[in-house]
Amino acid sequence: MNRTQRATLGGKLSAVLVAAGSSVGLGNIWRFPYVAGNNGGGAFLAIYILCVLVLGLPLMIAEFTVGRASHRNAVGAYRALDNKWSFLGYNGVLAAFLILGFYFVVSGWTAEYMVHSVTAELAQYTTAEEYAGMFERFIRNPWRPLLYTSVFVLATHFVIALGVQKGIERSAKVLMPLLFIILIALAIHSLLMPSGAEGLKFFLLPDFSKVTAATVLTALGQAFFSLSIGIGTMVTYASYFKPETNLRHTALNVTILDTLVAVLAGIMIFPAVFSAGIEPSSGPSLVFITLPGIFNGMPLSMVWSSVFFLLLVVAALTSTISLHEVITVYLHEEWHLSRRGAAWTTTGGTLALAALASLSLGILDGWRICGLNLFDSLDYVTANILLPVDGFFTCIFVGWRLDPKVLEAEITNQGRLNFRIRRIFAVLLRYLCPAVLLLVFLDNLGVF
Ligand code: PFF
Repeated sequence: MNRTQRATLGGKLSAVLVAAGSSVGLGNIWRFPYVAGNNGGGAFLAIYILCVLVLGLPLMIAEFTVGRASHRNAVGAYRALDNKWSFLGYNGVLAAFLILGFYFVVSGWTAEYMVHSVTAELAQYTTAEEYAGMFERFIRNPWRPLLYTSVFVLATHFVIALGVQKGIERSAKVLMPLLFIILIALAIHSLLMPSGAEGLKFFLLPDFSKVTAATVLTALGQAFFSLSIGIGTMVTYASYFKPETNLRHTALNVTILDTLVAVLAGIMIFPAVFSAGIEPSSGPSLVFITLPGIFNGMPLSMVWSSVFFLLLVVAALTSTISLHEVITVYLHEEWHLSRRGAAWTTTGGTLALAALASLSLGILDGWRICGLNLFDSLDYVTANILLPVDGFFTCIFVGWRLDPKVLEAEITNQGRLNFRIRRIFAVLLRYLCPAVLLLVFLDNLGVF
């Protein structure tokens, strides 16, 4: 496949919106607030931002470099630059497949909750126990989550089938501004609630006495997942960037937008949680159990909860699109399937995995892999093994193995831009990032 046959993204804004569409997802709105709540609020936020800037940003620039230097899918990209490193691309395609296995399931839940909000079914309960009971019944039900997961998979397929420009680029241009408008409206509404200031204080004031080594590792894992790095997504998207796209500015803008959404999600959720007198550390169930109860006590509850779950649907969709594209373009370019055939193969494969993952929370709960059900295993294997391994080797590859001329050419757009932060970038990519990633990886395996 040569460069001219490949699709390219429109302008500067498209590159940022498309990559931010991948980064901004359930990780920001569903995962970030409860992880921050469990790890000391503001102190966690400060460490998280440090991880994003010092480790996430250089790695995103490195992945952009690999993608645009080769103009190929994740596997083809590493192969074109150095055949021995194509395992990194396979790791990315595999990770995208496994992540979609559970991400599609949670995305399906957000779609179901949006429908329940619109039909006012969510408003019929009052206590937290009732909401917890409803959630448990729902995720254990053999067919309802499957139905919504399938709808979500097909929606993703539809965008992918339209192609890079008409599908991915256009949807990002509509969905990302929509997401920001909804998020800002909900955050302002939350701040105006009676205990708004208290919730905000909990979220933004750092309390470093709550910080342990585990907090730092959690922040790092969250940063990588949230930025969509260590998977091949950014390599794939950058392969569609134009020669004029400034890789450093794009990466900086994406990290700023992604962090802004996580912060706004915290600003939206914590004041509401405090106003309802609920423990801020209620865990993964925060948005499916705690929040519906909070919405229910508010005037116009149906409207707020419908808008909130629409926000989650939009955020999830732009991320599932990016994961689907990693596999689709790999099958298209490496296996020479037509783009349509590749998209259907990806859709069929991921739907089958997601169906099994969904059922593993109910009737297939007995199937255990090292003690975990399939849903939890997919989450565990990707977050704790595939992502850090990919991140580590990407640093080694771009920092030590890749021809420095290729790196220089991509970062400076063939000499047209200056590269003043060359030294800092090299130190971060060659030493700091791999060292920290190695520590995280070993810690996750229980070595310390
Ligand atoms: N970054 C997405 C989120 O925060 O929800 C999740 C994700 C998307 C991870 C794409 C990895 C990826 F390649």
